[in-house]
Amino acid sequence: MSSNRRKKHRIKKVNSINDCYELYNGVKIPCEGFGTYLIDDEDDAIRAVHTAIRMGYRHIDTASYYQNEESIGHAVNSCGVPREQLFVTGKVWNSDRGYDQTLAAFDKSLKKLGLDYMDLYLIHWPANPKQYREDWITINQKTWKALEKLYSDGLVRAIGVSNFTPKYMEVLMETAKMRPMVDQIEYHPGLMRDETITFCAEQDILIEAWSPLGRGAMLKNETLAKIAKKYHITVAQLCLRWELQKGILPLPKSVKDYRIRENADIFHFDITPEDMQAIDSIERVPAKHNPDTVIF
Ligand code: A2P
Repeated sequence: MSSNRRKKHRIKKVNSINDCYELYNGVKIPCEGFGTYLIDDEDDAIRAVHTAIRMGYRHIDTASYYQNEESIGHAVNSCGVPREQLFVTGKVWNSDRGYDQTLAAFDKSLKKLGLDYMDLYLIHWPANPKQYREDWITINQKTWKALEKLYSDGLVRAIGVSNFTPKYMEVLMETAKMRPMVDQIEYHPGLMRDETITFCAEQDILIEAWSPLGRGAMLKNETLAKIAKKYHITVAQLCLRWELQKGILPLPKSVKDYRIRENADIFHFDITPEDMQAIDSIERVPAKHNPDTVIF
């Protein structure tokens, strides 16, 4: 596997929603993305993506599992912003793992999106030993091989994983030609994945945060509310800014225009190191899913 290391994306300070992190293959990725999980109504999805793009987002995250690829593609293709200025991420779902199945699933997703390439394609969840016994290793390796093929064929500009802990990435790397460029994980102030963060920092793999607001759970946290008040911002903005200051790429989802705007308005303040530390120390909440035990 290539040990190609470049300037770490983590070092970059971002000052606007159009600023980018740089993946280790040189591809630039807008530092905040618009999450679309649970926006499955066609009109809602098109409207939300149009609103997000109008408010400055250039990075849209979807997955075949979200069942909104047609709407997302329609919104991307009709928003008036040239395709090359947008960054679109897709993911292969668990029932499509394996080499041939993944290639077929990608093709189907690309057609639904109405695009001729994706910017980033991820393995949505690792196959785990609980569900697949000893086969989990080869299933993950074959799925990754398909992503490498899509990359070398120029159908995706970058490839990565989602919900992978170091254990799953290490087995991929045993047979991989290239390591993942991204790991998209559940991450917010109540759930910091230190082991995965350290591993990805060493490998120059960018971390993206799904549920960056803890599906709303963080919004009720009193410590966060107190800190946010000092900066005259909302708790949602505090969480998103905290992620950016850690070099992590947040993917907030909302269907409400004022929240889509609020979540993009996180570049006019800096959280002090003391407050960063105070946010790091809030009480933990359980993860929504554990990759070692999920059976979907
Ligand atoms: P809605 O779509 O009705 O705005 P996460 O991204 O952590 O999974 O959180 C998503 C949830 O948080 C959604 O239910 C979304 O609801 C809500 N949400 C998104 N942005 C904000 C915000 N700025 N303030 C309050 N709730 C928000």
